[in-house]
Amino acid sequence: MSEKKTSNQMWGGRFASGPAAIMEAINASIGFDRKLYAQDIRGSLAHSEMLAETGIISAEDQRKIAHGLNTILSEIEAGTFEFSAKLEDIHMNVEARLADLIGASAGRLHTARSRNDQVALDFRLWVKDELQRVDAALVALIEAFLDRAQEHAATVMPGFTHLQTAQPVTFGHHCMAYVEMFARDLSRVRDAIERMDESPLGAAALAGTGFAIDRHRTAKALGFREPTRNSIDSVSDRDFALEFMSTAAICATHLSRLAEEIVIWSTPQFGFVRLSDQFSTGSSIMPQKKNPDAAELVRAKTGRVNGHLIALLTVMKGLPLAYSKDMQEDKEAVFDAAETLDLMIAAMTGMVRDMEVNAAAMRRAAGSGYSTATDLADWLVREAGLPFREAHHVTGRAVALAESRKQPLERLPLDDLREIDSRITADVFGVLSVSASVKSRSSFGGTAPQEVRRQIRYWRKRLKRATAGGARAEKLR
Ligand code: ARG
Repeated sequence: MSEKKTSNQMWGGRFASGPAAIMEAINASIGFDRKLYAQDIRGSLAHSEMLAETGIISAEDQRKIAHGLNTILSEIEAGTFEFSAKLEDIHMNVEARLADLIGASAGRLHTARSRNDQVALDFRLWVKDELQRVDAALVALIEAFLDRAQEHAATVMPGFTHLQTAQPVTFGHHCMAYVEMFARDLSRVRDAIERMDESPLGAAALAGTGFAIDRHRTAKALGFREPTRNSIDSVSDRDFALEFMSTAAICATHLSRLAEEIVIWSTPQFGFVRLSDQFSTGSSIMPQKKNPDAAELVRAKTGRVNGHLIALLTVMKGLPLAYSKDMQEDKEAVFDAAETLDLMIAAMTGMVRDMEVNAAAMRRAAGSGYSTATDLADWLVREAGLPFREAHHVTGRAVALAESRKQPLERLPLDDLREIDSRITADVFGVLSVSASVKSRSSFGGTAPQEVRRQIRYWRKRLKRATAGGARAEKLR
């Protein structure tokens, strides 16, 4: 295998021979960074326009470059472009093809630029687009929850702690808990966009350039707020990717909790929700089964997203400034996390809209497990003047009695309750039903239907403000 290889046509000037096959295999990123083709071409177009504008290259060269780049864009989109591992990455694949197409003028494109600022730019543009996709997807998920919350503002279900029946809540209230979680995710997405909204183009290899470039112009042309301020940081920073990944990991973790609840709720034992055939699968051996596979997969895919965050943190850890080739390993993690997260959010949005809620089963479950015991204790405090700790004790005895008779609390005869504590009166039955219980919890953020409806109105208004006029309309903090 001593076949003499020619040196790299893009940077091989000082190299006598080409790379060993294994070197090429480990070095090439074209297998995955071809995903950045549109961003790469966009960046090169903006760069070449600025070079012409500032007189660094001629208008004629720029015209050829732009024409060539647009041709390459259509070739890639049509699937006719031939990617080559010898040319390492997307940047050199595009530039080499540009030379094929337009000849010598192609060599002027890379003036006052390095692959270091080029890749930092392309990747930032890609991550920014992805953050905007996640933004829109989260808005759709939140809207799905708002609709379900509205429909079920007064549907009583058991609220759980330790997955044990705790107190009755409304299903609308439970849905609104997810609205809060996903709205925080949305606010993290918007913060990340805001922080990363700077263009690294023109930082060149790491030190800036002696050419009189206009970085403000390229920043603006590429839709960034402003250029980055330090050329060394510009090529060594991958915080925008880390922030996307940490935001993605937190969001995926939220989605996994929702997925788990859907798995639990859709068991025949709970029977709170039923997924349609669109979101469930059958068993190949047990004909009676309907499995919540999509929810289980969302639950599992969280592991992938979280793992990618750790992978990238570990790649970046301990890297000296400025660019190191380690940073080429930033992309696959981000691409896979993005694709996975997009799918997870879409699947959960589908399930939230799809699931059929069994209000009767929820109410039945809410009524069992002595979920209104706290209401009895609160009544004893409010109406009979007991200190809460004593009321807790009295209630415990009432629950024990009801349990021994296998009866709900509100079925205990008044005489028996009075035997436990003589201060109890018939009025107590007004708070022992689950509906009375949820209705009474009208404190700010509480589960009472009227409070839930108020929170829905609040979020609908806020979301409207936050989506009007683009992602930066309101940060949602
Ligand atoms: N493919 C490289 C990456 O993804 C591009 C930058 C290469 N720069 C360099 N000096 N070798 O990071």
